Amino acid sequence: MRLLQNSHLFVLSLVGLLLVGCIYFGYTSAWFRYAGSRSGVADRLSYKQPSILNGRKDVITVTPWLAPVVWEGTFHTTLIDAIYKMQNITVATTVFALGKYVQFLKDFLESAEKHYMQGYRVHYYIFTDQPEAVPTVTLGASRSLTTLKIPSSNRWQEITLHRMERLEKLIETQLTNEVDYIFSLDVDTKFYGHWGVETLGDIVAVIHPGYYSTPRDDFPYERRSESQAYIPYGKGDFYYGGAVIGGRVEKVHKLAKTCRMQLDVDKANSIEAAWQEESHLNKYFLYNKPTKILSPEYLWQDTKYITPDIKIIRFSQVIKNYAKVRPNP
Ligand SMILES: *[C@@H]1O[C@H](CO)[C@@H](O)[C@H](O)[C@H]1NC(C)=O
Repeated sequence: MRLLQNSHLFVLSLVGLLLVGCIYFGYTSAWFRYAGSRSGVADRLSYKQPSILNGRKDVITVTPWLAPVVWEGTFHTTLIDAIYKMQNITVATTVFALGKYVQFLKDFLESAEKHYMQGYRVHYYIFTDQPEAVPTVTLGASRSLTTLKIPSSNRWQEITLHRMERLEKLIETQLTNEVDYIFSLDVDTKFYGHWGVETLGDIVAVIHPGYYSTPRDDFPYERRSESQAYIPYGKGDFYYGGAVIGGRVEKVHKLAKTCRMQLDVDKANSIEAAWQEESHLNKYFLYNKPTKILSPEYLWQDTKYITPDIKIIRFSQVIKNYAKVRPNP
């Protein structure tokens, strides 16, 4: 009787052990599968060992506040793609095409479909006074376009001044919780080379191609202290271009809202900053440093002579006849 009880106990504990073992094994294999799926893509990739000692020496690749400056040769496209592909991101992209500027849309969109954020979900938002003039461009898979009708103005300065407000309202009404990142880009431009997820960051600025070797006191910052965009001599990091503003939606919203409020104050005081929106943007970035900076590869000008530090031109302002496209001089 007692022997039977003992053998029962033995069988029971054996079953118990087996059960615990199964559960443990199940958990660990599930964990490995989970960890595998998390790091899988990057693990299967083979790429050159990053070197801590060698890098580009001809340009700065990090700012004094430790924000990366994106240049050809500072990132590995396949590796960065493997990381962002797992995040299922959406990138909203806004452009303003008012008056004669609609003529630039076709090249902008067609070249973006070749080079811009390839393989990612992109939603273009086109602000225009002529929705009927928006060209039909074949968009890739998971890419879409929305046209938003807005009134035009007979002064191009006025058009620039309202972009921040439009951006702010668009984010508030349609983009919060819908998209992850946003880029606001000038329309009189064209993509010539790869522009991918290496450009994503919390708040992203581009170096203006016209001033990247200019001493700060020669930057065309707003110098009148009556303006909200005022930057005194002796201050400033870089001269940023207004043609590219990007980042996480909530950070770009804060930027747009702040600049819009500063523009409103200037308007109430009847003062217009030297380069309108761009002046306010430069003021904003002086006190709210960008977390990533795009080199002039990401904003060039078709008319500009190429210097040896520019290894590739990715995005460039096209040649235009100002008299022909602007409503006023
Ligand atoms: C990725 O995001 C899109 C749009 O936000 C959504 O419709 C889709 O279900 C998501 N896919 C996965 C696998 O999460």
